[in-house]
Amino acid sequence: MQEPRFSPEEISQIEAFCQRYPTRQSALMPTLWLAQEKFGELTPPILRLVADTLNLPYAHVEGVATFYTMYLTKRKGKWLIEICTCFTCGECGGRELWEYAQQTFSLDEEGTTPDKLFWFREAECLGACDTPPVVQIEGRRMVFSVTPEKLNLILSQLREGQLPSFESVPIRNPE
Ligand code: FES
Repeated sequence: MQEPRFSPEEISQIEAFCQRYPTRQSALMPTLWLAQEKFGELTPPILRLVADTLNLPYAHVEGVATFYTMYLTKRKGKWLIEICTCFTCGECGGRELWEYAQQTFSLDEEGTTPDKLFWFREAECLGACDTPPVVQIEGRRMVFSVTPEKLNLILSQLREGQLPSFESVPIRNPE
């Protein structure tokens, strides 16, 4: 298998991250995110590439990548779908949505569909408690007030290779 590499453009981007901070260590999180966007997951060879690029110890890079749930050291399905079942969402349809997903899409114990196209996880609060239940796709697209019908629609879009359209957090008028 070919050794993973960053392109010259990606190296420039990483160097730009480094310029923002007093030390290269501080550029680790955006560099891990860039690597995850490029490679899909952060396997040991990718973590080694990140460590070498930033001139950091491998153990430190691995420690950060395995601490935060947003970093995927092992991808279990093509599309990651996180359903918030925390606080408000849990009380306002998030639990039911999670159960719906488990039953309807025959999720295994890891939360993946039999064809490994979708990987569902429960999420802690995603910071949009005013619009429960909230679903996050691939860690970068949030969808609000998700019903089972809306979830089905999201999955159809993802099957076509499309992320759901961007939604702003709806602002309610204080009465
Ligand atoms: S509890 Fe779901 S976004 Fe806060």
